[in-house]
Amino acid sequence: MQLFDNPLKLSLTAQAKSAKKMSLAKAMFDKKRSAQLQFCFDDLYVDISRQLITPPIFNDLVKMANAANVQGSIAKMVNGGTINCSEGRSVTHMDARRPETRSTDQSKKIEAFVDKIRKDKSIKSVVNIGIGGSSLGPSLVSSSLAPFSDGPDVYYVSNVDPADLSDILIKCSPSSTLIIVTSKTFTTVETLQNAVLGRLWLLKSNVPLDRALVAITAVPEKAVEWGVHESNVFQFDEGIGGRYSVWSSVGLPVMLSIGMKKFNEFLKGAHEIDTHFINEPIESNIPLVLALLRVWNRNSLEFFAHGIIPYDGRLKLFPSWVQQLEMESNGKQVDASGKALILPSSPLIWGETGTNAQHSFFQYLHQGQDVIPIDILFPRSHLKSGLKGDLELSHRMLIVNAVAQAEALAIGSPNLDQLHKNFSGGRPSTIISWAQSTPYSIGRLLSLYENITIACGFIWGLNSFDQWGVELGKTLANKLMQGESLEEVSPAARCLLFDK
Ligand code: F6P
Repeated sequence: MQLFDNPLKLSLTAQAKSAKKMSLAKAMFDKKRSAQLQFCFDDLYVDISRQLITPPIFNDLVKMANAANVQGSIAKMVNGGTINCSEGRSVTHMDARRPETRSTDQSKKIEAFVDKIRKDKSIKSVVNIGIGGSSLGPSLVSSSLAPFSDGPDVYYVSNVDPADLSDILIKCSPSSTLIIVTSKTFTTVETLQNAVLGRLWLLKSNVPLDRALVAITAVPEKAVEWGVHESNVFQFDEGIGGRYSVWSSVGLPVMLSIGMKKFNEFLKGAHEIDTHFINEPIESNIPLVLALLRVWNRNSLEFFAHGIIPYDGRLKLFPSWVQQLEMESNGKQVDASGKALILPSSPLIWGETGTNAQHSFFQYLHQGQDVIPIDILFPRSHLKSGLKGDLELSHRMLIVNAVAQAEALAIGSPNLDQLHKNFSGGRPSTIISWAQSTPYSIGRLLSLYENITIACGFIWGLNSFDQWGVELGKTLANKLMQGESLEEVSPAARCLLFDK
């Protein structure tokens, strides 16, 4: 069912008019309301009391999820139903973080490889060549868990810009480097071009490829045909979409960096959220509640964008990861059965770390003419480091700023005499906070956002697991690289590309 056909749609649209005018400044001081809109899952705390909703709206959103049979769709996904209809696949990334998966042959093969490399210590650098989901997940996890790294240095090269590869390889020595080529399809041209250059870099130094080159893919025969030794190919299931794949062998660079014990903690955090998502009633199901808010903000209040603002410098890649996750999953024009979607789906997702963002685009959030809801995320305490000085004070400043921004956006500060100093308030945000950024809590955070995305897709009635929209540009670029299809492109493009 599309959102347009949801029986609750009309009543929610009607309530949106008054919700837009509601005073968050007042609502925020209603203790009963606030208590109803705060959720805890162990140390994970989610506060949606700064959203433009009332308890009756919340109840209708829950009814909307029921009417859309979201829990039926979750069960279908978990039970292996072919819910990725356009590709005829089931969706299996949740399996990769189930404890049982750790005893499969594939898991044992990768675990043995990780242990060998980490014990041997001759590999000092790992370079992951991959793009989109084959890079964003593991690079985000590597940087967010940097303090937990006790293995080789890990680098990520995504773009086909030659500068990117050169700038990384210059830091590494061929004799002590492992190159991982990560590509679900093993057809992505940017990745293959970088892989060819990486392989040449190893060969020029007479490094044996069976020691220094491995591949991660859902199509092992393609990797072997390309030249990776069969025993160095780590397969993952084709039901795992690229943007949902960090839990699988795609996480190899992270495994090498932090070791299997900590990687399994990361998987455990993700699995705990899955269990909650699958079993918890809608009204206390955190990913589902946050998905309902995405839909409420996008479709009833008609806010076109959504910001992701982590107050944790090591989560600097989190906005980009969420951006691919939500926009590639839910930026669609058809429903799951291929019919045109009547209502818009994914908001535009973007973001930046706080407090940096406060000094760049927060002006727009406080006084711009469009209202943009944001998620404000932070760990409540920081990990100790060897650095001297009052680090507690720095971290306190960080989270005080996070909370102050949420309050300022919601409550505002009227000044009708000097409009340039007027803060209307009523600008929604959600606070998501946890005790400390550990492998467990980062796994939980990523799984939370995956499940928000999937639940939104179920409510909108679309397929969150395909990405046909990326094909046309790729095909055209490939044809142009071969010198074909010149008649398909405009004279301006021809002139740019061929008339030097
Ligand atoms: O072009 C988009 C995309 O297909 C993403 O969905 C994917 O994560 C990325 O490219 C990389 O694809 P692959 O892992 O097959 O190289």
